[in-house]
Amino acid sequence: MFSVPSLFGYASFVTSFGVGDGSWLAVLLKAFSSPSRKFDDFLPVGSEVTREHAYFEVEGGGWKMGRLFLHGARLLSRGFCSLGSNRISVCIVGSGPAGFYTAEKMLKAHQTVEVDIIDRLPTPFGLVRYGVAPDHPETKIVANQFSRVAKSERCSFFGNISLGSDISLSELRENYDIVVLSYGAESDRSIGIPGEDLNGIYSAREFVWWYNGHPDCFKMAPDLKSTDTAVILGLGNVALDVARILLRPVSELAKTDISDHALASLQDSTIRKVYLVARRGPAQAACTAKELREILGMKNLHIKIQQVDLDISPSDEEELKNQRIQKRVYELLSKAAASPHCPPAEQRELHFVFFRKPDRFLPSENGCTVGAVHLEKTFLEENGGRGERFAVGRGEFEDITCGLVLKSIGYKSLPIDGLPFDSHKGVVPNLKGRVLSSYQTGHEAVEHGLYVAGWLKRGPIGIVATNLYCAEETVASISEDVEKGLLTAASGTPKPGRQGLLQLLENKNIKFVPFSGWEKIDAKEKMVGQQRNKPREKITTWEELLKASNV
Ligand SMILES: Cc1cc2nc3c(=O)[nH]c(=O)nc-3n(C[C@H](O)[C@H](O)[C@H](O)COP(=O)(O)OP(=O)(O)OC[C@H]3O[C@@H](n4cnc5c(N)ncnc54)[C@H](O)[C@@H]3O)c2cc1C
Ligand SMILES: *[C@@H]1O[C@H](CO)[C@@H](O)[C@H](O)[C@H]1NC(C)=O
Repeated sequence: MFSVPSLFGYASFVTSFGVGDGSWLAVLLKAFSSPSRKFDDFLPVGSEVTREHAYFEVEGGGWKMGRLFLHGARLLSRGFCSLGSNRISVCIVGSGPAGFYTAEKMLKAHQTVEVDIIDRLPTPFGLVRYGVAPDHPETKIVANQFSRVAKSERCSFFGNISLGSDISLSELRENYDIVVLSYGAESDRSIGIPGEDLNGIYSAREFVWWYNGHPDCFKMAPDLKSTDTAVILGLGNVALDVARILLRPVSELAKTDISDHALASLQDSTIRKVYLVARRGPAQAACTAKELREILGMKNLHIKIQQVDLDISPSDEEELKNQRIQKRVYELLSKAAASPHCPPAEQRELHFVFFRKPDRFLPSENGCTVGAVHLEKTFLEENGGRGERFAVGRGEFEDITCGLVLKSIGYKSLPIDGLPFDSHKGVVPNLKGRVLSSYQTGHEAVEHGLYVAGWLKRGPIGIVATNLYCAEETVASISEDVEKGLLTAASGTPKPGRQGLLQLLENKNIKFVPFSGWEKIDAKEKMVGQQRNKPREKITTWEELLKASNV
């Protein structure tokens, strides 16, 4: 295998790579590339070229750019998969970015590695499919790269298999030399204040799953018709996504892959005002400048920010000095607050509310639906001498009347049986990706052959690409351990790997969805989407997903 070198502007290039025992083959790669498109849209720089690419041709949007001629592709594929006796079996749990980057790096680092990826859903890609907003299609292009990994010779995908219910961690560890957990964060941090279980209060995670067509939130059906006001607690990028979806003209959303049920509901939505409520100030906002700029620039949207909230203290200024993005965020907010009011035709409003924390939720007249959020004003106080400042209540209160609340205060990972878990931080204790069974400083003990990556390892922060570096770190740890001989079975009998998994599933009578099953779902979604002038129409129920995977 060889890596794709940086290719900007080149029309063609010749490179060579080794096969099996060191014979070299020349590969001619011609890119009929229009200068405006980067070749790495098609094959990212550094990615592996495998047999599939030999027949790969990309067309779209009036351009046609890459064609790869591999001489002797057959010969080549034989060379690739000569898994010797020192085969290493790897099982990755979770097919989000962390899982796929780990798979990609493992396959590249070790020629004798065989990787199986398990996911509880019949569909791969995690939050690339069920997190990233429908109006951010460019962020989802990475799924193409992940598909190439899934389809590579030494990789298999097992969808519809849930760790913790279908199979246990110990079963996986018995069957694989290496188990990497990257099952993300599928729960929520809770606020823990009175009224939190009133109707009309959801976590942003559920709401995002709902508009993105996740089969677990198909039935959620939030009521967007009985109120004109929604309150979003939190001011990170997820909060901005949710606000944007609530406020964006439905005609624009209709062209995206937003789920059909969400589009219909947003069509009838009476919500005109959205409040984004942050415990701290504009200098501590958790969002990034790019996402903020996008929402501030939306047409026909009236932005409201109280001028007093923008006054910053000397400590804020100190803080901003070292934080480029936060400084930019603050500047954008200041500019938006100062810009002239919109014409009266303005219908929709976005309010930024700083220095307020939720104290309780108040019911509406019917007693069971949320009617208002009771907020306490805050100020910032240093705590613990490390320079970090926290929001402290002032004892002054105010209400925002609303009929919908979305809590966007953070995702949280779930523990599973037999896995060390730091429930305070909501992550698996680890040392550069090696799972620690005991994590008192000085007494760290490592779990043999067990690793973590992604949000389960670091907590629910960072963009898709952050998981690339995260996976690299974990794979580096694995490679080190392989080299030291730590992962070879003490008994001398090799672990069965994929054969063992298949046997286990058969014994338990569990059916899985292979990658080809997902491709059937994918094809169907794209076909229906095409008829409706959107990139895809997501299938949103378990039943239909499984049916579509099986035709
Ligand atoms: C709402 C939202 C919007 C975002 N938007 C962007 C964006 O625009 N741009 C960007 O760069 N980043 C964005 N991100 C961040 C990005 O999605 C994450 O950094 C990334 O997805 C985390 O990767 P992961 O692999 O750790 O977890 P995930 O992507 O969550 O993948 C976890 C996978 O594990 C599976 N799983 C869960 N439990 C089990 C189990 N018990 N057994 C088997 N499988 C299981 C899940 O089905 C899932 O497929 C967004 C995140 C969110 C929440
Ligand atoms: C998927 O999993 C469910 C529940 O475990 C099971 O009933 C079903 O048969 C599986 N289907 C396929 C196609 O894998």
